[in-house]
Amino acid sequence: MITAVFAQRKDALVERAVGPFTVRMTADRARTQVAIIGAGPAGLLLSHLLEREGVESVVVETRSREYVEARIRAGILESSTVELLDAVGLGERLHREGFEHRGIYLQWPGERHHLDFVDLVGRGVTVYGQTQVTKDLGRARDAAGQEFRYEVEDTQLHDLTTEHPYVTFTTGEGRPARIDADVVVGCDGSFGPSRTSVPASAARTWERTYPYSWLGVLADVAPSTDELIYAWHPDGFALHSMRSSTVSRLYLQVPPETDVADWPDDRIWAALGQRLGQGQGGWRLTPGPISEKSVLPMRSFVLAPMQYGRLFLAGDAAHIVPPTGAKGLNLAVADVALLAPALGRLLTTKDETLAEAYSESALRRVWRCTHFSWWMTTMLHTSGDPFDAQLQRSQLEWVARSEAGATGLAENYAGLPIGY
Ligand code: FAD
Ligand code: DHB
Repeated sequence: MITAVFAQRKDALVERAVGPFTVRMTADRARTQVAIIGAGPAGLLLSHLLEREGVESVVVETRSREYVEARIRAGILESSTVELLDAVGLGERLHREGFEHRGIYLQWPGERHHLDFVDLVGRGVTVYGQTQVTKDLGRARDAAGQEFRYEVEDTQLHDLTTEHPYVTFTTGEGRPARIDADVVVGCDGSFGPSRTSVPASAARTWERTYPYSWLGVLADVAPSTDELIYAWHPDGFALHSMRSSTVSRLYLQVPPETDVADWPDDRIWAALGQRLGQGQGGWRLTPGPISEKSVLPMRSFVLAPMQYGRLFLAGDAAHIVPPTGAKGLNLAVADVALLAPALGRLLTTKDETLAEAYSESALRRVWRCTHFSWWMTTMLHTSGDPFDAQLQRSQLEWVARSEAGATGLAENYAGLPIGY
């Protein structure tokens, strides 16, 4: 092995493999209080909330900003998410462009029931795409002069069990870089390096995979419904959601490993029409041009504790839910709403109480949402087993006909208060 030394100060050196060589180079070096890995909703919102706590952060992201802002994902905000975004000055466009929905439609062939969350639990939800939340956060962070490092590679976390953790990566220009911090927060989703930096001996994980996936499409057509339709159907689940008065978002249950190439637009519209429309009187689904198509696998995953030394995990880095209850984005928001004041206290007054309580407090809501997402998923997706189908129909009828059943769904769907 040949080692080339490009710098004199040992602590500023970073080793990097270049072909057969291990090259040691001077790192671009920065210091901050909190190094945040990932510029998804969890990372961006955390940097915003930390600033309000008087805490400085740097955000490191592997993708480009354009990619992060265009990524089509979630679309439903719980009332507590909206309240939080309002409280921290991020609600203006959301209220102007988002749709307030009182509830959802729950249906199966021959029946469609409206569950009015506002009547049932006093609060509804807001339809506002994750892409828009991400753009609003990006603008707010730009206005505050937030430091970002986009398009980095090979992010690695170091010395997490000391009071001087640091993060190394290669910049978009190919230079090694290092950020020293008091705390590192892993907001890098389910495939990032933060989760895998926690040794197996220091955490426990729980996982469930489901025998189906979602085919999601975005279509340039006015929604055919005023509120979301969750449809049980013998052919499989279907969901009609939306992004604006001219853009619809629709999902179909498909087998795992489905290739989008097997689903030309005509087949998608025919399946959606069948599953959403069958036995629903004169209701019609209006098809339109599809602009995006993708297959989403479905999984539940929880890692606990959500802390390892000076590393804290938030959002998808710590937990994944299947999308049926629209909880993923809302859980990420709830995590950082707890974490920001905890880190504020830790870093400004050296009081560790809230930081030590973070994982346990966050996990209470995480498990509630994990259960709710599992429950919605197993109630609505067909397995092919006729006994399962009878149980699902019975459960759906109870939820739709009983105030107690409907209230349980409404309370979980519209969202529990931050800090639940
Ligand atoms: P993410 O949004 O995943 O952000 C993590 C960030 O970390 C990303 O920007 C990523 O590029 C970055 N990163 C990864 N690795 C590194 C690294 N090595 N170094 C630096 N940065 C890194 N939820 C719903 O409620 N409804 C939906 O319809 C829905 N659809 C989804 C579709 C897909 C394909 C996926 C993956 C998720 C979907 N979700 C949905 C879930 C929801 O979008 C997530 O729960 C939410 O994005 C979580 O936010 P986050 O910030 O924790 O993670
Ligand atoms: C959307 C996604 C969901 O998972 C859900 O349950 C409802 C709506 C959406 O993307 O609009």
